[in-house]
Amino acid sequence: MSATSDDLDKGRRHFLTLATGVAGGVGVIAAAVPFVSSFRPSARARALGAPVEVDISKLEPGALIKVEWRGKPVYILNRTEAALATLPPLDGRVRDPESQQPQQPDYARNQYRSVRPEVFVMIGVCTHLGCAPEYRPDVAPADLGPDWKGGFFCPCHGSKFDLAGRVYDGVPAPLNLAVPPHRFLSDNTLLIGDDRGLG
Ligand code: FES
Repeated sequence: MSATSDDLDKGRRHFLTLATGVAGGVGVIAAAVPFVSSFRPSARARALGAPVEVDISKLEPGALIKVEWRGKPVYILNRTEAALATLPPLDGRVRDPESQQPQQPDYARNQYRSVRPEVFVMIGVCTHLGCAPEYRPDVAPADLGPDWKGGFFCPCHGSKFDLAGRVYDGVPAPLNLAVPPHRFLSDNTLLIGDDRGLG
């Protein structure tokens, strides 16, 4: 079952929230087993970690959607070329520029911390004390200063992260934001919580 959009805000922060669906190979099984609905993960199974399938076909460049997986918010960001270009120059200002800490699967341990450069998937839980970082794509806003290139800002104690979830030096959060296991089922369909075949 695919995700359905239940809230769309094309305002300043380009924020989009989707209700999510649950996968677990349901689409494939459905073709061969008519009573597949009985095999769909229950709410309890979802809470225990069943994968979540997300339709990102309406995720516009610069926009962010939030879905829930294992009771945690997962952010999915469509990064523009301009957003990607902000990352390399920040290598000297972030604590773990090459993602040495185990905060991502091996296949996301690269310059962009993602499978596809433009699609960034991360767990929206601050690595300090667990608040939800805000998506702040605006460049040089008054409250974050002239050096801000866009990224994630934690309102609880002021931790800052770039558009790859890499934590800046000198803030309370000790680690980059975590990247959950995930893979693409198609160009526009992501599966969060399952990365079979990607190792
Ligand atoms: S919880 Fe994010 S900075 Fe403290």
